Amino acid sequence: MSENFAADLHRRATAAMQAERADADAHGGQVEVGQYTSDDTASQESKLLRRCPQPVAAGSSLAAPGAWLSMTHLGIPLLLVRQESGQVQAFVNVCRHRGARVVPEGSGNEARAFVCPYHAWTYRPDGALRGVPQSFGFPCLKQEESGLRKLATVERAGLVWVILDPELSQKDPNESLGSLMDNLESLAGLSAPVAFAPRSYEVEANWKLLVDGAFEAYHFKVAHRKTIAHMFVDNMQVIDEFDLHRRLYLIKARFSEDAPEATGFDPRKYGNLTYFFFPNTTILVQPDHAQLSSLEPLGASRTRVHELTLIPEVPASDKATAYWQANVDLYRRTLAEDYELAESIQRGLASGANDVLTFGTFEYSAPRFHSQLRQQVADMQAGR
Ligand code: FES
Ligand SMILES: [Fe+2]
Repeated sequence: MSENFAADLHRRATAAMQAERADADAHGGQVEVGQYTSDDTASQESKLLRRCPQPVAAGSSLAAPGAWLSMTHLGIPLLLVRQESGQVQAFVNVCRHRGARVVPEGSGNEARAFVCPYHAWTYRPDGALRGVPQSFGFPCLKQEESGLRKLATVERAGLVWVILDPELSQKDPNESLGSLMDNLESLAGLSAPVAFAPRSYEVEANWKLLVDGAFEAYHFKVAHRKTIAHMFVDNMQVIDEFDLHRRLYLIKARFSEDAPEATGFDPRKYGNLTYFFFPNTTILVQPDHAQLSSLEPLGASRTRVHELTLIPEVPASDKATAYWQANVDLYRRTLAEDYELAESIQRGLASGANDVLTFGTFEYSAPRFHSQLRQQVADMQAGR
């Protein structure tokens, strides 16, 4: 962890506590209700999400060369294979003959060949087309150009990040993840963590309602009064932007109780750090572990949430497993409070009570996110 980063957070947190607010220059804003209810908007946003790196799996679930994982994400059938080089490569899991899904959902450890269930075109673990039964029937086939479509793939912070649009296979996801990812990986235990307690589930709300909740601490004292509110200073969150990403620092009550020095300051002891990777991924960094939450829009009013916990090593005892599970349980109880409110908002959106949702100065990051998202969608549509 860089000294500057810790010292800077200490300075910012101290100034916010003295001023009794973290956002002296921020402006509130409004977001039109239609942004959360339009199917057309949701499908354009899904298209944009396919152009942004998505954390589709934990690197630790593909332990060694030959390990593979077949899944579907944002509507795209995917095949991930750890190559002999040690790197994970993602492919579109769709046959280049007549488009059948090549590998059914599942996983394995010894990829030798992937055989399409329709006419048995066969692909090597590196995606190359190896065999075509009765190939004389395809006199014009360029076998070397007919491998599975590759997708831009990197492994960062223990996660496999994939750009799901095959048109962008030459793009480097590291460029999008940027310096915020470098900062995340510099934290102890987060350069090569292992995954614990993954789960996916659905929420009956627009995915952006779940994002909005991550951008303000105004709701903590009320919505999280039964779980985590007591651990934090009321409504006090320092936000740094990294291009379209954000790092949010939610200050803990012990920051004012202990009054820690700037020298040797440990931000993870005195607050929660949330790393938000635009537009749909948050990694909440706790003192000794982190929680990933990635949002997959399924329509205007339905979202699949993918969660997993990143811990420094595989738990070596029942006691260690119980310790991590207790952390996971508290995280899930807290998120359930947020998601229940998001579902309640979604149900009320169609009532006509509001044409817009209103965000205060300390909630500025949410309307700012919405306008950045709209701009990105417009740029995509204009081919920029
Ligand atoms: S569709 Fe795959 S072999 Fe024909
Ligand atoms: Fe919350």
